This record gives sequence, C-alpha cells and structure tokens, in this order.
Amino acid sequence: MSFQPDLLKRKAALVTGGGTGICRGLSLALAAHGCDVAITSRRAEHLEPTRRELEALGVRALAVAGDVRDPAAVDAAVARTVDAFGRLDILVNGAAGNFLCRAEDLSPNAFGAVVDIDLKGTFHMCRAALPHLKKQGGVVLNISATLHYFGTAAQLHVSAAKAGVDALTRVLAVEWGEYGIRVNGIAPGPIADTEGVRRLLVGPAKDRVVEMTPLRRLGAIDDVSKAALYLCSDLASFVSGVTLVVDGGLWLTSSRMAEAWDAAVAAAKNQA
Ligand code: COA
Repeated sequence: MSFQPDLLKRKAALVTGGGTGICRGLSLALAAHGCDVAITSRRAEHLEPTRRELEALGVRALAVAGDVRDPAAVDAAVARTVDAFGRLDILVNGAAGNFLCRAEDLSPNAFGAVVDIDLKGTFHMCRAALPHLKKQGGVVLNISATLHYFGTAAQLHVSAAKAGVDALTRVLAVEWGEYGIRVNGIAPGPIADTEGVRRLLVGPAKDRVVEMTPLRRLGAIDDVSKAALYLCSDLASFVSGVTLVVDGGLWLTSSRMAEAWDAAVAAAKNQA
C-alpha cells in the first residue's frame, strides 16, 4: 500500500486492459486503497484471475469482456459497471496494442488496428463514461507513451495514436473541467514484466535502455501504480490536462539510442 488505505474508499473505477500488465497492477493498487474496480479486456481469460485478486482485497470487483474498438461493447461495459457499483468516479484507459514495424511495411489495417484500439478506444470510453462521471465529478486517466516525443523508428502507428491520446487528454481537461472532471495521462517508459517490454525490447535493446536511463533501471509496475494513485485521488485535486512521464528520465536521452533501437527492430524482424 502506497498511501492511506482509505484513499479511494467509496469510489468506483473502470480500467480498460485491466486484466494484465501495467493496468492489472494499477487496478490492484486502486483496490488496495478501497476502490471498487471493474476491468475490461478483449479476452475473458485475461480477466477472471485478476478479478479474483481484486475481490481478495475486500472491494467489489467486476470483469467485463469486450473490445474498446466497439462502441456498443464500450457502452455495455460502462452500464454494467454502474449497475454493479452504483456509480463511476474513475476511468482508466489502458487498453493498447503494439508491435514493431517500420512505416514502409505497415499495412493500412495494421496502422488502423492500433489507432482504433489506443486512440478511438479511449474516445469511445470517455464518451460512454461522461454522463456518469458528470454526476459527482471524477477522473479520467489515459495511459500514453513517450514514443512520439521524438521519432521512434518502427513505432509510427503507436506514436500517431498516443499523440492523439495526449491531445484528447488536454482538450477534455478543458471541456470537462466545469463538470469537476480532471483528465490526465501517464506516459510510462519501458516497464519490466510487461507485454510491451517483451514485444519491444528485443536483442541488445534492453541493456542499452537501462544504460541510457538516468535512474539506471527499467520501471516497475508499482512505479506506474503510485503515479496513478496520485492522479486518481484528491492528492491531485488541482491537476488536470497533464501527462506525467514515468520513465526514470529515459526520454530525455532517447535520441542517443537510435543504434540500439535499429538493432532491436532488426532482431524482431528476424524473429517474425
Ligand atoms: N508487424 C506488422 N503488421 C502486423 C504485426 C506485426 N508484428 N502484427 C499485426 N500486424 C497487422 C496484421 O497483419 C493486420 O494487418 P493486415 O490485415 O493488413 O494483415 C493488422 O495488423 C491487424 O492485425 P490483427 O492480428 O488482425 O488484429 P488484432 O485486432 O487481432 O490485433 C494488434 C491487434 C495488431 C495490436 C495485436 O498486436 C494485439 O492484439 N496485441 C496485443 C496487445 C498488445 O499489443 N499489447 C502490448 C502493449 S505495448
């Protein structure tokens, strides 16, 4: 537990992509601080084990299988959450897709798949959650990235999607501030024990990333969870429209690691 155990007592959250990785950790952190948590994912088998872990923390927990690309499924996930918990205070948009692929090899469907999940999925969720968040005020937290802060090779699709997510964070912070809704983001760097690191940091890239990171390690899921607890709670009561970078300072040095990145892209291509 990172903060007072009752930090989020009587709050209800919906976390997309909450069954695995960073968003599983984040969901457990919300629950450990008293929050009821609903999680969604495309794959039901990703959800039930995490739902049980959430429940074991003494809160109400719900698992809803569904694809954030489908507005009807999104509406249903929000409705089921509100039915179960009677309210919605916190929406975390974590569902994402990624793979390494240079722009010249990217098919229209490949580009579209990632934009549909990361960017349009975030929009669909925000749109569906708004009427409920409006009732008492609330929080939206969008999981972003740092890839688009510079030109990350083989990440055009995700860079475009996450740049859009950051724009959405800022515009909604402006439009929804009057409803008492704060809209923020977190941009994690490489986080150990996640699908992202398994997919993206192949070959020599992992060691090079640690070397280039000012804090000299990969991030931990807990690093992201602590930032999320801050942004989702009243500790951040006057913070809206920001995307907090949680990467040990890596993005500041990343332009110098192009060589290692090129090697990782080549290694991924050989593996495919
Ligand atoms: N390189 C190039 N193109 C790829 C690819 C890769 N490694 N992986 C998928 N694609 C392309 C597919 O070929 C397809 O394009 P096409 O129809 O022109 O052939 C398109 O992307 C959609 O792929 P598909 O597998 O049909 O879509 P999906 O909806 O099942 O999968 C993805 C979505 C593509 C994002 C998939 O990578 C995924 O589900 N990932 C799991 C979650 C994840 O990535 N987590 C990591 C977060 S950092």
